[in-house]
Amino acid sequence: MHPEFPQEGIIHLNHAAVGPWPLRTQQAVCEFARENVREGSHHYPNWLQRVEDTRKLASELVGAAQPDDIAFVKNTSEALSMVAFGLPWVEGDNVVIPRDEFPSNRVVWLAAAERFGLEVREVALGEEPERALIDACDRRTRLLSCSAVQYASGLRIDLQILGAELRARGIRFCVDAIQHLGALPFDAEGCLADFVMADGHKWLLAPEGIGLFYVNPEIRERLQLQEYGWNMLAHAGDFANPGMEPARSARRFEPGSPNMLGIHALHASLSLLLETGMDAIDHDIRTHWMHLAEGLEGRGCEILTPRARRAGILAFRPPVRDLDRFYAELQGAGVLCALRGGGIRFAPHFYHTEEQIEQGLVAVERALEQARMTSA
Ligand SMILES: Cc1ncc(COP(=O)(O)O)c(C=O)c1O
Repeated sequence: MHPEFPQEGIIHLNHAAVGPWPLRTQQAVCEFARENVREGSHHYPNWLQRVEDTRKLASELVGAAQPDDIAFVKNTSEALSMVAFGLPWVEGDNVVIPRDEFPSNRVVWLAAAERFGLEVREVALGEEPERALIDACDRRTRLLSCSAVQYASGLRIDLQILGAELRARGIRFCVDAIQHLGALPFDAEGCLADFVMADGHKWLLAPEGIGLFYVNPEIRERLQLQEYGWNMLAHAGDFANPGMEPARSARRFEPGSPNMLGIHALHASLSLLLETGMDAIDHDIRTHWMHLAEGLEGRGCEILTPRARRAGILAFRPPVRDLDRFYAELQGAGVLCALRGGGIRFAPHFYHTEEQIEQGLVAVERALEQARMTSA
């Protein structure tokens, strides 16, 4: 068992839903709580330093040029909303998104469409997702927004290809990276993304309610602000200053007091990911993914995630009539997973041991046996 993940009675294959914390994150939160109880905010400057340290870690993970390109947000949905309501739309513009996106990356565009008179084009990804998305763009397309990894199928989009094509056409590129960040290396600059967002609670192994928002510095000041407060000002902290000039950095998207508790936790979780190294994490997830896929296929399950486009998610359909029951059996056996898109979604992380993966497969075997017995 990995020393940072002393889990009890579970095989956590649900990092695409709500991931667990490592031990160091528990410690960071407990220490922060203790400090608050004993010393209040006496050392507030240290907390502010922790915010900036976390911003630095986040910028490394996202592949931003500098920490100033990162804002902390409540969650993915909030950052998507800031983009949807902050861009200078002209009536008749259109936005392209994949069909079957997670609701966050759909409703914001539909809501903005109503407000600004936009068209939202929902595109079936098919065999060649990047081609399909590009083909749906025309001269009125202002932005394409997609998840880096589809939440249900686990299909990974080639962001490099898509970003280059969009840049050549002058179309803004928005990436919901919540199913990618923390599972695979990410390169916001390299894929020419204009906006990247992710909450901490999945592959980043941090709590819910503290998210990252990367904005390409070239467009930062053209994204109209949706929220205002003392903290987003250039002179934040100088409370007597009557000016209202926003910070030039991405802090302009952080209106008020930071989520200090969340940031302390996020800092601990990101430090583990970066110390481990995203290449090593990618490698280990791949090993577990292949192990699971082989074991599932050997037990008659159909793998739904296209192998060549896998990230961390492994979606499969077991040979059973009652999928809900099969899922309940797994949950009952402590194998945490999700029912998504007409199948079961497994999502292993780097810290699993081979034995844990094998135990997951044994639980699948038992659930299949159970299904055979009840249908006999
Ligand atoms: C693709 C995708 N986007 C966003 C979210 C969650 O959004 P938020 O961080 O706003 O809760 C999920 C969660 O399942 C997701 O899979």
